Amino acid sequence: MPATNPRSGLTDSLTPVLDATEGREPPELAGLFVVLEGGDGSGKSTQVSELARWLRADGHDVVTTREPGGTAAGASIREVLLHGGDLAPRAEALLYAADRAHHVASVVTPALAAGRVVVCDRYVDSTLAYQGGGRGLEAGELAAISGWAAQGLVPDLTVVLDVDPALALARTDRLREAPDRLEREPLAFHAAVRERFLALAAAAPARYAVVDAAAGIDDVAQQVRVAVEPRLAATTGAA
Ligand SMILES: Nc1ncnc2c1ncn2[C@@H]1O[C@H](COP(=O)(O)OP(=O)(O)O)[C@@H](O)[C@H]1O
Ligand SMILES: [Mg+2]
Repeated sequence: MPATNPRSGLTDSLTPVLDATEGREPPELAGLFVVLEGGDGSGKSTQVSELARWLRADGHDVVTTREPGGTAAGASIREVLLHGGDLAPRAEALLYAADRAHHVASVVTPALAAGRVVVCDRYVDSTLAYQGGGRGLEAGELAAISGWAAQGLVPDLTVVLDVDPALALARTDRLREAPDRLEREPLAFHAAVRERFLALAAAAPARYAVVDAAAGIDDVAQQVRVAVEPRLAATTGAA
């Protein structure tokens, strides 16, 4: 181990992530940025629409979006990532970063600046979990690339939908014959992804909620609402 590189282990390698969370860069954005994270089949897409429906009924101005693929350019990047051929892990990480850079600049930041509630399906933590926990790329390097792409934009709240990957993948199997590039990875990969999401949440509990996503859809939706509700007072879009 070189003397110049004393850091090792997950907690230390997450330091750059935590360092990036000390409040937003000015100007302060008026809206609320909520991210739903979790493995494939954990219920993110379902809960993004459940949460948006509830927020809109409560009078909030809501934008729902996702990574990858939240923009026109992002839709092409998503296609390469999920349905293209073989990709080197670093190429995969950089494509996610490219998608994120354009998405944050053209969708997320403008909506937050306008005081809207942004509910996003996946964000930086998915990179840290899949390309870090899953592919084994170094967490600090991934955090630096992602942070640069996102211009340091950190969610106000990240809700981790936590569920056994075997159960989650069984949900997606029921629907489709053709799993995407990441869904095809072995269970051990998905178990490592799950562990990384939980480690990220444990490292910064004030910005996270971990929800039991093995529960029924309505029960999970209720857990998500309980996590989001206290944050709403801070938005200018409140009814
Ligand atoms: N809490 C739940 N219990 C059972 N099935 C669920 C639950 N949440 C979602 N599903 C179903 O599981 C599948 C995957 O859900 P989805 O929201 O697409 O997950 P993700 O976006 O995280 O991959 C869908 O068919 C969805 O209807
Ligand atoms: Mg989904």
